[in-house]
Formats: sequence, structure tokens, C-alpha cells
Amino acid sequence: MNKLLLICGAAISIGLASCSSPQKGDDYGWLKNAIDVSAVQLKTTAGEVGDTVLLPRSIWTGYDMDFLCAQLERDPATFKDSLRVKPVHATLGSRRYCSSIYDWTSGFFPGNLWLAYGLTLDKQLEVEAIRFTNYLYPLRQYKNTHDIGFMMNCSYGNAYRTEPADSVRQALIETADNLCGRFNPQIGCIRSWDFGRWNFPVIIDNMMNLDLLFYVYHLTGDTKYKDIALKHADTTMKNHFRKDYSSWHVVSYNDDGSVELKCTHQGKNDDSSWARGQAWAVYGYTSCYRETKDAKYLEQAKHIADYIMTSVQTNDSIPLWDYDAPVTPQTPRDASAAAVTASALIEMSTLMEDGQAYFRYAERLLKNLSSPAYLAKPGENQGFILMHSTGSLPNGSEIDTPINYADYYYLEALTRYMRVKGIAYKDL
Ligand code: GLY
Repeated sequence: MNKLLLICGAAISIGLASCSSPQKGDDYGWLKNAIDVSAVQLKTTAGEVGDTVLLPRSIWTGYDMDFLCAQLERDPATFKDSLRVKPVHATLGSRRYCSSIYDWTSGFFPGNLWLAYGLTLDKQLEVEAIRFTNYLYPLRQYKNTHDIGFMMNCSYGNAYRTEPADSVRQALIETADNLCGRFNPQIGCIRSWDFGRWNFPVIIDNMMNLDLLFYVYHLTGDTKYKDIALKHADTTMKNHFRKDYSSWHVVSYNDDGSVELKCTHQGKNDDSSWARGQAWAVYGYTSCYRETKDAKYLEQAKHIADYIMTSVQTNDSIPLWDYDAPVTPQTPRDASAAAVTASALIEMSTLMEDGQAYFRYAERLLKNLSSPAYLAKPGENQGFILMHSTGSLPNGSEIDTPINYADYYYLEALTRYMRVKGIAYKDL
């Protein structure tokens, strides 16, 4: 199976093209510690998983109904029947794995290994990255969700960026074709989900799947991929945002392209501003600007970033799980939203002339995520890197827990940070 990713020549490091030593006075102890902890956690986890096809996702959490109702400011009598019984798992507190390779988060653990390898050039991480990426090979034929963009770009995309191989390139092209197959020209969007009560649901998260299309456009030169990505971004820009640049989570369309309804699935309520949704949005429009240099995408990304920076309610700027959640010490945060935002803002700051304020904000997020309040102690946290993310509070799932995608965007943000600073791990 390892032949799938057989490599020729030296590895191309994902992020560290031209590097210089840290300058006197720079204090990058936090950065070295963050990378060291990440590498230890990932290697230990990969070793513990062994040869079974298990992809680490999060830690099993439970919840208390009164707590959920208080967070949602909702009367328990109106609450979903499926959530009335508190889940009691024998597994509470143990590592939660993806249900299968078709779980939407399956690409992140392989991606984490690739990113950590890119940072450290530690061969053990490379071996594990290849092993876990290979498990996902059948996904190139999967068509049933927009998340194939996340799943394949984070695993196979990073594999190809690190060590190009024909079979990997083909898998990326096949996946991009399947993602394009979910595009409806009448509506002007890629369909997100095939489940639920909606006619044609598009979620703000879908902005993240555009990077696969941009990448395959570069691999093939076929403008079809880029055109579909940009049409999706334009339709989303028109319908997903409120005047203050907060976003609806779900916009569903009628077949004629008119909006069926706007609502939430993972936020506090239909009109609230779900923290990770804002992060996905600023990341997605930054990618669109990188690919086009069309000022409308940069303007959109800046407006969303400004919303995030002025709406955050915590002293350390790691957002509560929803910008409209009750501001209480018990309200869970979402470290994943902070990590995605940090990665986006670092990239955005490099694409504009006066991006220092965005870069400084991202640096603050990264330093705070790298503090003991969020960064795991080596050997703890079930092998995950960051603590305190929230997956889907209204659905009682993954509340205040480590999650693999928080680790992914944290490692990506560290990689981008080092590239901007021109520093390499070996010089820290
Ligand atoms: N894409 C699903 C989520 O952000 O939780």
C-alpha cells in the first residue's frame, strides 16, 4: 500500500522555503514548545492506534440538559426529543475515532501528520503520514458530501504538496470532479449535504472546500475548477451574510435559485453568529482573494475579520462557541475557530499592504493557544494537541473537547507564521 505515495527525490517542505535564524531578542520559546508538543502527541497517538484503520477525531464528552438549554437560552419543553436523554457512554473521556473513513473529519489526522512533518522533518511523522493517508484512498470515488474537499485536500493535498506522486495527483483530480458534480449552475452553488429537511442546503463551511478546486485548477490548468469555486463564493457572498458580516450557517435554495430558508444547524439560533462559521468564512474569502486578486474578496475577508475582532467576548480572544452565546465563565470556547481564524489572518496579512493588525491578532491567538490554558501537556489530552473546542453544541456533540481539525488549523497557522517570520524549526 505504501507504494501509493512513493516519492522521488527529496521532500519539499510544506512551509519552510526560505528561512533565516531568529533575530536576537526574539523569543520563540512558545513556538518551539508548541511544535515539540505537537510532534510528541501525534507520534504517540499514531503508535497507539497501531495498524488498525482508526482515525483519531476527539474525546467523547457528555452534557447536561440544563446546561445545553441555558447555552441556547431555550425552554427545555421546546427541545429536540433526541437530546432529552443525557448520553451516558462507557467511553466518556476516551478517544473518539472517526466512524469510518467517510466521517467528514477523516482527513485531518493524516493532515496533522503531514503538517508536523513539514515543520520538523521528523521521518517518523512522514512514515505515519503516508500510512494514514493511504487509508483514505477510496474517498477519491466518494460523492455524497461537500466535505470531500476537506477530507482529501488535508490528507492527499498535503501529501502532494510535500511529495508529488502521480497516483496522488489523480486522486485529487477525481475528488475535485466529484465535488464539481455537486455544483448546480441554476443555483450557483455546490450542494453541501445530502441529508436533512432542506431542498438544497449550502453551509458556510463549504467555503473551505474551494481550496481543493483551486489546487486542482493549478494542477491541471482546467479553469472549470476555479470557475465553479468562484461562482460558489459569489452566490454565498450574496446570500449568506448579514449587514454586519456575521453569517447564517445554512442557506437552502429552491431549484430556481431563490432562497428557500436561512437557519442554523450548529449555532445558538438561526440569527446568531456561530464562531466557527465566521472562521470558515474569513478563511474561504482569503483563499478567493489569493487566487484572483479581485478586491471584492479581500474586502469581504476584511469585513468578516473585523466582525470577529470586534465581537469576541473573552480576555484571551479565543471565542466562545457562538458570538451570541451567553457570556458566562461556563460557556464553552471554540479553540478550533481561533485556530482557523489565525491561519486565515496570517495568510490575509501577506496579501495586503497594511496587514499588520491582522497579523498581530493572529499572533496573539497563536500565543494564547500555545499557552497551558489550551495546549496539551505531553502524554495527556488523549494525544490531541489543543484542548477546548466545541463541535456542535445544539446537537450535544463534542462540547469543550479536543478536536482533530483544531489541531490541523493550529499546525497550519504555525507553519504560515514561521514562513512569514522566515524562521525554521531547527533554528529555534
Ligand atoms: N463542517 C462542520 C463543522 O465545522 O463542524
